[in-house]
Amino acid sequence: MLKSVILAAGKGTRMKSDTPKVLHTIFDKTLVGYVIEAVNGTGMAAENFVIVGHQAERVEEFIKDNYKNARTVLQSPQLGTGHAVSMVLPYLEDFDGEVIILCGDTPLITSETLKEFVEYHKSNNSDLTVMSAIFNNPANYGRIIRGKNNGVEAIVEEKDATPEQKRVNEINAGIYCIDWKKVKPAFSELKTNNAQGEYYLTDIIKWGNEQGLKVNAYILKDNTEIYGINSKANLAEATKYLNQRILNKHLANGVTIVDPTATWISPETEIEPDTVIYPSTYIEGKNKIGKNCKIGPFAHLRGGVIIDDNVKIGNFVEVKKAHIKSHTNACHLTYIGDAEIGSGVNIGAGTITANYNPLTKEKSKTIIGDNVKIGSNSVLVAPVKIEEGTNVGALSVITKDLPAWALAITRAPLKIVENWVRRQIK
Ligand code: UD1
Ligand code: CA
Repeated sequence: MLKSVILAAGKGTRMKSDTPKVLHTIFDKTLVGYVIEAVNGTGMAAENFVIVGHQAERVEEFIKDNYKNARTVLQSPQLGTGHAVSMVLPYLEDFDGEVIILCGDTPLITSETLKEFVEYHKSNNSDLTVMSAIFNNPANYGRIIRGKNNGVEAIVEEKDATPEQKRVNEINAGIYCIDWKKVKPAFSELKTNNAQGEYYLTDIIKWGNEQGLKVNAYILKDNTEIYGINSKANLAEATKYLNQRILNKHLANGVTIVDPTATWISPETEIEPDTVIYPSTYIEGKNKIGKNCKIGPFAHLRGGVIIDDNVKIGNFVEVKKAHIKSHTNACHLTYIGDAEIGSGVNIGAGTITANYNPLTKEKSKTIIGDNVKIGSNSVLVAPVKIEEGTNVGALSVITKDLPAWALAITRAPLKIVENWVRRQIK
């Protein structure tokens, strides 16, 4: 089992935000959360150390509340990436195994790539493997300097590079796999004699070579995986990359997505084949959608939604924490929250499950049996249960449980005043 070190102490000034950089979200999951989950997803991670500094308390609290196998280590002041990693030395004195080092602001790295990376490290009997990538425009990245026999000799930061080194387009992706026992001494020997006056983590490459260790580079296949977040524009771009990846997966699985440029689907949504997702649909959180469903246009699923086969969720329908069984339709202008809805149900346009009491701040459930028909513009005031087969007349406000196969209607009686208009205009 390996350990990870995730660097997240930096300031993130360009985010122009009160929120620490790594707590910004893509589809409701934090940037650092993506990185931890990518490491955990390899099935090889025993423990993750997150190095915190700027707004440390908030990141600490978040990690503690959300990730059991992660802990934070404070780095203060922040003297560079090498200094950041050295913060774990007291915790890993006796550790004998691989440590992978990543950044908390590159959320698009995948478990598959990390697994391949670690396997590459092991199968090459490497002591130190750095992940590299080939960029047409390598500006701002550290460059991989290769020597005789193509071996990796050093990493040179842009600010320290000669014009010739700047032309190298193999860059340091900022992810490393190291044999901890062998590389650990490097962290006590790093120097700050560089352009930025920092302890560079990248100097462990040269150090490793000097010690006669086996140093390798693993070249990344998909450069978007190391896309880093430094600004809100980067955050939007990363969301797009991630979304594209998710849509491609669904398309390959047989889901029809009418307009992939106008559809947003969170990573934790499962969709079965032959379902059609119409444009401007936004799906957040964890959801499960069955076969032959039609979702959208303009549908909003907010998480905790289970939709069985042959269901229609139409335009301006918002669904949250609900199970909707097969052959049920909610085609227009509806809110369904905290609900269990049977099969063969029709939810008329404008129906609302009133699930929230703003005074007590409590949410309650709406339970609807099979084959129930809810007339348009009805309000179902939860907690409420409507038994099988019952019809609710349009514009009704349902505040009590309803028995099976009944009619419930609260509408004011229709009044017709004959010739009323004629009398007005005379
Ligand atoms: C670093 C690499 C560079 C690589 C690039 C990939 C070094 C010296 N350079 O450069 O070769 O191409 O990443 O993105 O490592 N951090 C701390 N504590 C610190 C300093 C940084 O936790 O004292 C964290 C930051 O929050 C960030 C990460 O480390 O998450 C990288 O730091 P940053 O200053 O952005 O490194 P780069 O200059 O991008
Ligand atoms: Ca820097």
